[in-house]
Amino acid sequence: MTEQKLQELLQDMTLEEKVNQMLQVAGGFFTGDMVAMGPMAEKGFTEDNVSKAGSVLGALGAGKLKKIQREFMEKHPHKIPLLFMLDVINGLKTVFPIPLGQGATFEPELSERCAQVAAKEAAVSGLHVTFSPMVDLVRDARWGRVMESTGEDPYMNCLFSEAMVKGYQGEDLREPYRVAACVKHFAGYGAPTAGRDYNTVELSRHTLKEFYLPSYKAGIDAGAAMVMTSFNTIDGVPATGNRWLMRDILRDEMGFDGVLISDWAAIEEIIYHGYCADRKEAAVRAVNAGVDIDMMTGIYSEHLCNLVRDGKVPEELVDEAVYRILALKNKLGLFENPYKDADEEKEKEVILCKEHRELAREAARKSFVLLKNEEVLPLKKGEKVAYIGPYVDNRNMMGSWSIVGDAKDVTTLKEAVLEREEGKTAMFGAGCALLGGEVKLEGFMESVEEEPSAEECAAMMEEAVKLAGEADTVVLALGEHRLQSGEATSNATIQIPKIQMELFRRVCEVNEKVAVVLFSGRPLDIREISRKAKAVLEVWMPGTEGARAIVDVLSGDYNPSGKLPMSFPYCVGQVPVHYNEYSTGRPHVEGKDKDRFRSKYLDIPNEPLYPFGYGLSYTRFAVSPAEIDKERMSGGEKLHVSVNVKNVGDVAGTETLQLYIHDIAASVVRPVKELKGFRKVTLEPGQEERVSFEIDGSMLRFLTENDRWESEPGEFEAFVGTDSSTVNCVKFWLD
Ligand code: GLC
Repeated sequence: MTEQKLQELLQDMTLEEKVNQMLQVAGGFFTGDMVAMGPMAEKGFTEDNVSKAGSVLGALGAGKLKKIQREFMEKHPHKIPLLFMLDVINGLKTVFPIPLGQGATFEPELSERCAQVAAKEAAVSGLHVTFSPMVDLVRDARWGRVMESTGEDPYMNCLFSEAMVKGYQGEDLREPYRVAACVKHFAGYGAPTAGRDYNTVELSRHTLKEFYLPSYKAGIDAGAAMVMTSFNTIDGVPATGNRWLMRDILRDEMGFDGVLISDWAAIEEIIYHGYCADRKEAAVRAVNAGVDIDMMTGIYSEHLCNLVRDGKVPEELVDEAVYRILALKNKLGLFENPYKDADEEKEKEVILCKEHRELAREAARKSFVLLKNEEVLPLKKGEKVAYIGPYVDNRNMMGSWSIVGDAKDVTTLKEAVLEREEGKTAMFGAGCALLGGEVKLEGFMESVEEEPSAEECAAMMEEAVKLAGEADTVVLALGEHRLQSGEATSNATIQIPKIQMELFRRVCEVNEKVAVVLFSGRPLDIREISRKAKAVLEVWMPGTEGARAIVDVLSGDYNPSGKLPMSFPYCVGQVPVHYNEYSTGRPHVEGKDKDRFRSKYLDIPNEPLYPFGYGLSYTRFAVSPAEIDKERMSGGEKLHVSVNVKNVGDVAGTETLQLYIHDIAASVVRPVKELKGFRKVTLEPGQEERVSFEIDGSMLRFLTENDRWESEPGEFEAFVGTDSSTVNCVKFWLD
């Protein structure tokens, strides 16, 4: 439809029709699971609202959505099609590693491919929009939603944000198998006080702009069709009613002209924040802030028409919101083809197809981070291995946002081992339950598996310890339950359930060759495991093909190459901990431990247990001292920092060289290091490669005291290394 036709359609709509375009209802209204009267009436939903709604979330399936669309449009006064939206976070039915695991690949292009597959499976299932990518910067492992982020670095998050938006949307939303992306949660949601979900966010405007906003902007600049508001306040004003954040920053400064949707019930929640006296005022605040779609409260439907008629809200605000919604439907081609890619036959053909599974396996392999290895991995041919732990038989390793993923499509670790030759001599024992009654997972939509009784656990433990004693090597598959990280899963202790640690200790008593395979949605406090185990492989929540990918790595068929996208704290007392911290006026430096008046702890080190960017390989790489081709540059010039990297081990492997910059003195203090580039190199044993990073003026810009992104003359340090603790440094001067 042309822009003119869209404007004419808008002019021809009644005020009720327009306001109800701004209403998003759950799919249950159309599939009969929910009714607009009764329980939903107090939420402002009426049959009439629902019959004129603009979009639906939570319904899925080509046949079902085509039926809903057809019946809806038959009744709609202007035949305006519905938008169908859903959280497709790390894949639809073919589930990829959780985004934090994808961040560990240091390969945004890979995530672009995963997003493209996710979009294809979503599109043939009738969806038009995914509530992804979540690009919130995260620094606090107590917050369960770190699993949805790509980590603690702004530069990395920008690259993944852009890649995922491009993967979902392509160049044109009318293309087959594309869905609109929704960058979320705007803004600063990843910094809740004390790591407690939905808690207050206290960020200076400088910190918000410098570290947290860039990844949203990267997604918007990549063309994201939608942005979602966050639940938190910024400067004491809830984001969903925050005019400064949504109009001055998002619309004006960032130039976002797409659809702004509230998070679930977030418009109503600005009442509970204490920002509005009632639902009517909430409607005024949200529409003034420029929120176009009200997700699941009905407040707009209930109040906006009267507010416009009473002159309290200019109709222009409704028109601009509705125009953006209609424009998105038009970009998707829904006025010409309201069913877009929904196709029952295609659904059967593409969902979980071989190519998709292979990509899921590749992504999983590349997401694993080898944290420790004292000659235990890869497993030796012919050695007797006992696979022990609650993740040996656990089928669901897809993470808490894989709402459509089905555990029956996932291979267990035991099954993956039995598929291979080494399965003939392998032994298996669960050893204990995942949670052991210590952790109560309540209120989840999906049922949480029944766990074995204490007596059964005791027998399992004895059996597993016996197997461990008979084995040459033990692979101990431990970790969080998939529902222990994600939304509303803040955890003050970031520990592995006690029952699993008991199993770990018992196994270590009878066999010193223990390799821990760690499943988690977040960094955990793994000091004891790190001390006692001979090897530790972090596998996150690896998705549908995760188990096969784990065996690819344990067997040595794939040499692990992942790097930490988020620091593993020494313990929860260090949190929030991140590599790109400020120096402080009393930096704690090596050898100064005796200096009392330093920024340090009495009881733990300042350094995390494992730093951002860290990850081992089955081989070893030697990196030469960094060299620079000139020591001075002006704004318009470039210089190059280079190293030689050599594979000095005896198997091929991939290393990720990382470039960090430190601006030594500036009008606003600078982090001690900032990631500005990285390069993955794959080398055969003995092979050497020169890796050069180009540094130009744009890489030295930051948010100065003038509140502008600019560089300032002065001395800089450039580091090139294999993780953020590198000291391989050269200096240069910017004139
Ligand atoms: C949730 C989440 C958001 C998600 C939305 C719709 O509360 O905060 O990330 O997209 O609701 O499911």
